[in-house]
Amino acid sequence: MPPKDRLRVAMIGCGGLPNGTLLPALMLVEDLLLVATCDLREEAAQKTADRFRAERSYTDHRKMLDQEKLDGVLVAAPPAIHERIGIEALERGLHVFTEKPPSMTREGARRFRDAARGKTLKVLMGTVQRHCPVNQMAREILHRPEFGQPILYQARYLCPGPGMRMDWGLKRESDDDMFRFFFLDHIIHHLDLARFFMGEIAAVTAMRTRAPGEVYAASILYRFASGVAGSQSIAFRSPVFENRSLIAGTGPAWVETHNWSKLAYSLPNLPVGQGGYSDGRILSWDGGISYQNGVSRPGYREELTAWAAAIRNNTECGANLEDGYREMQIIDAIIQSVREGREVPIPED
Ligand SMILES: NC(=O)c1ccc[n+]([C@@H]2O[C@H](COP(=O)([O-])OP(=O)(O)OC[C@H]3O[C@@H](n4cnc5c(N)ncnc54)[C@H](O)[C@@H]3O)[C@@H](O)[C@H]2O)c1
Repeated sequence: MPPKDRLRVAMIGCGGLPNGTLLPALMLVEDLLLVATCDLREEAAQKTADRFRAERSYTDHRKMLDQEKLDGVLVAAPPAIHERIGIEALERGLHVFTEKPPSMTREGARRFRDAARGKTLKVLMGTVQRHCPVNQMAREILHRPEFGQPILYQARYLCPGPGMRMDWGLKRESDDDMFRFFFLDHIIHHLDLARFFMGEIAAVTAMRTRAPGEVYAASILYRFASGVAGSQSIAFRSPVFENRSLIAGTGPAWVETHNWSKLAYSLPNLPVGQGGYSDGRILSWDGGISYQNGVSRPGYREELTAWAAAIRNNTECGANLEDGYREMQIIDAIIQSVREGREVPIPED
């Protein structure tokens, strides 16, 4: 597509994610043209502009928004900045791609959501997992008639750590802050994926491991609005990432995705295997964690493509700020459940 016909966008925040993942993916999206970058650190803004062929770089986003002719902005910075600059961009009539979490607080996520309400502007929150091809495929499979009714959701996520982003305003030495950080930085992805597959979460019950030292591990029970039960185990202690989601259906059937790139499923009457307990009729697919000649990882090109398509066609895209607000409510409910030892309903709002 000729540059003059593309959607003109600017990147605000030029740290690790945009340079390592987001902008390499953006280069693959034909509809988007990066025209400017902005970071408080001049060198980061400049280098990022050079690397991804943006025409200009800035250290002040207001100056950039005043001077550039833009269709939208991408914001990847500390979460308080997502909310603040995201709202400013919406007020200037710009479409917004915001990284997760949308804010540091539930109240902030609500303000951001409310700023987008009633506008035709498209806001996509970068909970990338729902855009991974395997998770898109899994959702298509679980909606096939032969899958039957979903009856169970089970997920686990183990990751290296603990680590802490020091510019989020949380205290590294505070156990409460570290536990909340784990949810804001990582687990919001998994809440989003659970809702993407299974629909709304009506209530949560959570239990946290109590052990000496810096241990951040928990089991969470979901009560989905559909009536289905689900669980998610999380731990901030693993040499490598391990990320699985499984849905069972009455088919009888199941589908599982693993580490952003692998899918396995079993449906009635698949024409493979011999059957029986251990040699089942299972189909599996591995898309690889690095594709597009190693330029990108699964989901990032797809989420930006979805955002651009929504802008072009005036259609919906997800996750949106309603999802973001809901997921911030669920994070607060999980933390409350750990503290009070009871099921906590997620308020309707
Ligand atoms: N979806 C994902 O897979 C994923 C992965 C990593 C990070 N993230 C999210 O992306 C965001 C950025 O992560 P990162 O790893 O790039 O962080 P980073 O710390 O490497 O970079 C953040 C950048 O934001 C800049 N910044 C801060 N305030 C600013 C402002 N007012 N204007 C312009 N620039 C400003 C900083 O100078 C810094 O360069 C985080 O919110 C994180 O949650 C998402």
